[in-house]
Amino acid sequence: MSLSLPDFPWDSLDPYRQVASSHPDGLIDLSVGSPVDPSPAVATDALASASQAPSYPLTAGTPELQSAMANWWQRRRNTGPLSSLEVVPSIGSKEMVGLLPTLLGVRAGHTVVIPEVAYPTYAIGAVVTGADVVASDDPSTWPDTSAVIWLNSPGNPTGRVNDVGYLREAVRTARAIGATLVSDECYAELGWGEAPVPSLLDSAVTDGDRTGLLSLYSLSKQSNLAGYRAALVAGDEKLIQDILLARKHLGLIVPAPIQAAMTAVLGDDAHAALQKERYRARRDLLMAAFVGAGFQIDHSEAGLYLWATKHEDAWQTIAWLAERGILVAPGSFYGPSGSHHVRVAFTASDDRMAQVPARLSA
Ligand SMILES: Cc1ncc(COP(=O)(O)O)c(C=O)c1O
Repeated sequence: MSLSLPDFPWDSLDPYRQVASSHPDGLIDLSVGSPVDPSPAVATDALASASQAPSYPLTAGTPELQSAMANWWQRRRNTGPLSSLEVVPSIGSKEMVGLLPTLLGVRAGHTVVIPEVAYPTYAIGAVVTGADVVASDDPSTWPDTSAVIWLNSPGNPTGRVNDVGYLREAVRTARAIGATLVSDECYAELGWGEAPVPSLLDSAVTDGDRTGLLSLYSLSKQSNLAGYRAALVAGDEKLIQDILLARKHLGLIVPAPIQAAMTAVLGDDAHAALQKERYRARRDLLMAAFVGAGFQIDHSEAGLYLWATKHEDAWQTIAWLAERGILVAPGSFYGPSGSHHVRVAFTASDDRMAQVPARLSA
């Protein structure tokens, strides 16, 4: 027996990693969105204070975490008030992306819709259940068999943002089909324009009715906590309670010290604002360097990446950058329509980033 999952795509970058690593000044790895700046003191202090944890933690989260999650959504994502029955923590958001179709009872004969250019785990979560996968951003093409429809805004890898008009249309269509509409918003705080990135749960989208809707958020990127595995889900009370019940049975529990750290972090906006400015500076530097080297940057109005193209096959661009000691990810990892783009992450230290302009102009 086997699940017949595809190879892990990042392994195919290894030969280019070797070339880039042989650069005399070393590798600049912009191929993954893994934070490199320190976890904030608000998290590390709370984690240390909660290190005594002899008892099993609550799958739903401590009462303090439940209200911190609900308050965060209301304060930062304009959802209106949420009750503690409308939020649940997860062990990072990747497991929730991968397991959500399973937790919701999706099975063979159902369809899971994913974005046209998408984080690979949406499709993996569907394959695990035996469901079919359709990649489409256009609500008019979403099949009647759809059980779960994934949105991702700001999008990985493109940095594209779904506006309120699009989200309202997505809600209307998903409800007509009877599908659960889920928006993965783990880059939501990293919008580079003036306007905030709207949530699927924004009151302007829901008019206060969250039926059939879920939104995912993660503390990995905004708070440099990828190693803590700390994320949260909000939305339709019935769906959240179904998910909670399944997670209780399966033992999918956020560890108690991490729950304490999440509670502290969700109540503190200052550290996230500081981190956002670090990323803004790196983004400005990369944008100028890549445009100067003849790249076109598409979308990228939010999130942790530049979606860049030299109008050639992505692997050619990967090879060109590897010769300059820079590693990025090919757009083809995210679907066939990404085949002429590369994804450039803002997650290298300022020292490494400072070398990018000279390497690209050499
Ligand atoms: C779109 C998207 N969703 C989910 C995740 C998972 O994040 P985490 O598991 O760290 O919360 C990532 C990570 O890069 C991502 O890009």
